[in-house]
Amino acid sequence: MKLADSKVVAVGGGSGIGLAVAKAAAAAGARVVIAGRDAGKLAAAARDVGAGVATAPVDARDEGQLAALFAAQAPIDHLVVTVGPGSTRQRYTSFLEQPTADARALFDNKFWAQYLCAKLAAPHIAKGGSITLFGGGASRRPIKAMAALAAVQAAIEGLTRGMALDLAPVRVNAVAPGRIASSSFGDMPEAARQEMLDKWAAGLPVARIGLPEDAAAAALFLMQNAYSTGNILYVDGGHYLA
Ligand SMILES: NC(=O)c1ccc[n+]([C@@H]2O[C@H](COP(=O)([O-])OP(=O)(O)OC[C@H]3O[C@@H](n4cnc5c(N)ncnc54)[C@H](OP(=O)(O)O)[C@@H]3O)[C@@H](O)[C@H]2O)c1
Repeated sequence: MKLADSKVVAVGGGSGIGLAVAKAAAAAGARVVIAGRDAGKLAAAARDVGAGVATAPVDARDEGQLAALFAAQAPIDHLVVTVGPGSTRQRYTSFLEQPTADARALFDNKFWAQYLCAKLAAPHIAKGGSITLFGGGASRRPIKAMAALAAVQAAIEGLTRGMALDLAPVRVNAVAPGRIASSSFGDMPEAARQEMLDKWAAGLPVARIGLPEDAAAAALFLMQNAYSTGNILYVDGGHYLA
């Protein structure tokens, strides 16, 4: 299935992996809409993607905003949701020390936002279309101090498989990235961020941290492969084996 002339809505497309998805889809000839909370960030991202991309401010935790977005963009061929879990502090805290409110926030920010995107977009997905969610490799191999995030990522995988049955013939898949150097660690001091990424790279079979483009390529594959549904595609540099 070709992406040329299809409409791709990328919620979370203003940065990181979502922006890489938007660029790749636009390069393949798709009409792309990038959505996120920060209008200024979306405008800068749109300039980066190039001509023909549209922007739509939305908070993916807000059902009313999502309903309006998807109705306005219908019919949608492919929905990709890269909304993430929140701050680095909320993501990486050991289980007993993590305030329960922070664990709940991870679910609100990532699981429930992706759930709502899929639920409210599904009626507007065109024949032959797809939904691609983003979990993460910690679902099957967490590192220390990320138990709640591992649970969020596993929940997205279960939701993906269940929706693949309930929403058929719309195809529903998920990408599960491992360690990707993107803006999602942007709230860390740069030196600490680089030290963490270097340490992670040294422990991976591929000996490098992933790029947003690595994960975006998986989303493009899932959008275009008409025989893939209920599939969880891990792009983790071999983290699971290391
Ligand atoms: N990078 C990694 O190493 C890694 C590893 C495993 C899994 N993942 C997953 O892959 C996905 C993409 O990660 P990334 O690294 O590309 O993250 P990112 O750069 O932080 O991108 C997330 C995007 O989602 C948008 N967003 C966040 N909350 C939102 C909300 N409530 N409503 C609308 N938009 C929202 C953000 O923009 P605004 O804040 O402006 O709204 C941002 O543009 C995430 O689900 C992440 O958990 C990433």
